Amino acid sequence: MDRATYQGIALDGDAALALLEWQMEMGADVPVMDDPVDRFELPARVPAPDLPAIAVEATPKIPPIPSEADDLAQRVAQAKSLAAGAMSLEDLATVQERFDGVELKKGARNFCFADGRPDARVLILGEAPGDEEDRQGRPFVGRAGKLLDQMFAAIGMARDAVDTEKAVYITNVLTWRPPGNRDPSADEILVSMPFLARHIELADPDIIVLMGNIACQAALEKRGILRLRGQWVQAFGRPALPMTHPAYLLRNPAAKRDAWGDLLSLSAKLESLSV
Ligand code: URA
Repeated sequence: MDRATYQGIALDGDAALALLEWQMEMGADVPVMDDPVDRFELPARVPAPDLPAIAVEATPKIPPIPSEADDLAQRVAQAKSLAAGAMSLEDLATVQERFDGVELKKGARNFCFADGRPDARVLILGEAPGDEEDRQGRPFVGRAGKLLDQMFAAIGMARDAVDTEKAVYITNVLTWRPPGNRDPSADEILVSMPFLARHIELADPDIIVLMGNIACQAALEKRGILRLRGQWVQAFGRPALPMTHPAYLLRNPAAKRDAWGDLLSLSAKLESLSV
C-alpha cells in the first residue's frame, strides 16, 4: 500500500486505533493539526466570554480577639476611671461592687469592702476575704480576725471604738474571695489597685498597717514579710508598718513576741504624730 493511497482511504475504527498506537510507539506525543500554528504569535490571553455577574457577599470583618495583655490593660483603665469618679467611700463601694473586671466576683458569695470606723487614724490592710469573710461580707471576721482584734485590744484599739483616736479601719487588697483561699494573682492585685488607692485616699488614715506579704506586695511591690516587718516605710503617701499576718501568728505562736513589739512601735508612732 503506497502512502498517497493510504492517506486517501477512509479508516475504520480498528485501523484508526492501530495507526494511533503505531504513531505513539514511534514517539509522537503531541497531536498537531494539518496547518502549522505559530504559538508565539497567538494573543497572550483569550478574552473570557462575558458571564453574568455573580453577587459576591462582602466577607464580614471579624474583630480581632484582644490579647490577654490588652484585656488586662482595659480592665485596669476601667477600674481607674471608676475609682477616680468615686467621691465618697459609699460611692466607691458601689462602683467597685458593680465592676465585673475581676473574675473572682463570679465565685464569691459576698463583696467584702471594709469594717471599722472610716475616720480612724489607723487603717489595717489585709490580703483578701477568707471563707467566713465571704459569708459575712466583712473583713477579718474568722479566726485570724479574732486574733487581730485581740492584738489591737492589747494597745487599747478596736474596730468599734467610740473614740476615733482608739478606732481602726480594716480593708483588704481584694474585695472578693479567691477560691480555696489561694494567694491573689498579680493580675488580680493590679486590677484591684486603683480601687484600693482611692479607698485609702478617701479614708485618709494617718498610718497604714500592712498585714502580711500580699499587703506588702500591693503597697510596696515587695515580699519577704519576715524581713520587712517592724520597719517603718512610706506607702500610699503616708507612714506604713509591715507586720506578720495574724494567720501566720496562729501557725507560729513564737512570732507573737515580735508582733507585740510592732504594736508598741505603732502606738508610739501614733503618739508622736499627735504632738
Ligand atoms: N485574711 C485577710 O488578710 N483578710 C481577711 O479579711 C481575712 C483573712
